[in-house]
Amino acid sequence: MRILLGVSAGIAAYKAALLLRLLTESGHDVHVVPTRASLEFVGAATWEALSGHRVTTGVFEDVPAVEHVSLGKQADLVVVAPATADLLARAASGRADDLLTAALLTARCPVLMAPAMHTEMWEHPATRANVALLRERGVHVLEPDSGRLTGQDTGPGRLPEPAVIAAAALALVAPATGSAIDAGAQRTVPSGAVVEDLAGRRVVVSAGGTREPLDPVRFLGNRSTGRQGYALAETARRRGAQVTLVAANVSLDPPPGVDVVPVETTDELREAVRRAAARADVIVMAAAVADFRPLTVAGHKIKKDGTGQGPSIELVANPDVLAELAADRLRPGQLVVGFAAETGDSTATVLEHGRAKARRKGADLLAVNAVGDGRGFASADNAVTILDAEGGTVSQAEGSKSVVADALWDAVLGLLRSRSV
Ligand code: CTP
Repeated sequence: MRILLGVSAGIAAYKAALLLRLLTESGHDVHVVPTRASLEFVGAATWEALSGHRVTTGVFEDVPAVEHVSLGKQADLVVVAPATADLLARAASGRADDLLTAALLTARCPVLMAPAMHTEMWEHPATRANVALLRERGVHVLEPDSGRLTGQDTGPGRLPEPAVIAAAALALVAPATGSAIDAGAQRTVPSGAVVEDLAGRRVVVSAGGTREPLDPVRFLGNRSTGRQGYALAETARRRGAQVTLVAANVSLDPPPGVDVVPVETTDELREAVRRAAARADVIVMAAAVADFRPLTVAGHKIKKDGTGQGPSIELVANPDVLAELAADRLRPGQLVVGFAAETGDSTATVLEHGRAKARRKGADLLAVNAVGDGRGFASADNAVTILDAEGGTVSQAEGSKSVVADALWDAVLGLLRSRSV
């Protein structure tokens, strides 16, 4: 495979030399395109020696080869590591002022960017907007690692380890292996096997639990860890889908090859999911979304008033993101899938509550699981009954969260195929 490795001007450029090594040693033909400023950190001789190819940085070098067009067009995969704030900004605005940005405009293959910069730059609204725009256009932007940065500072902004970048990049173009797919039938993918039966599908998964601020230090939240949503995202990616994972307050490592959009509140989650859903074939709402939020958020920490009485907090309803998506269908033929965490009570069993919810929400599928008594939240295992829009049982699955995830994607595929989507 022909890989274009873009390197922009960050101290982490030295790690790109290790990344280049990993990619060439896996048998790939890698062409390095550094920005001119990045040569201050790692010189052209290093890239030429390690890649075995000449290295140019500007559009006016090696003009007869029209490299600014050919490099991007001929690539099967583009990886930019490190991607600085400046590179992200230039890529997002479609600039072509050097060979790397010109190549990005001509590439039609998967593009992965691994950002590295100081925390303040990463968190700046301009960078957030650039990353969001790139993701919206289908560029896979990895989340940076957290830890020690160039100076004494620590925080999010470190370049992920070269092995993580390589795995995430290669996952974007992983060829199908394993047994042939029976295109007509639903099948469970044996764990460990790679069958790309979701190739060409764009999916959005929400995970974690939303938090609603009360004041600058307190929030209303829930116990969701995001594990089931992350397993769904990872499994969909393994089965070939292009995945956007909207993660509400999750502290798990992002799955390789998946675009992660971190959010905090229900409003933020709603906006991120709807933005990604505009291009998605399937949306799975695995996040535990807060049904209510405080009517007002205090601008300062709420203090005890000395009376021994606690304050009353007035709550207002949040939008039901799943029900809205099911009603709106932001793309024709789009499938909308929900999860229902239920405890039985004196009025109905877990499944009866689930069937009623399936009919109420309007989603195509609803995966019902029992929570409480050590099941569901934070536990590694899960058991679900997957229902259709009328509350009828489609299938059941029990085991690790990836086994449950595979069963859900099987049900999704069954529905897509039955509708010939
Ligand atoms: N959900 C949502 N927006 C909300 C609440 C829930 O999108 N405001 C989604 C969840 O992501 C999940 C499904 O709806 O996919 C069911 O969530 P659940 O908490 O089980 O149900 P609720 O809608 O909160 O209903 P109830 O409180 O009656 O159990």
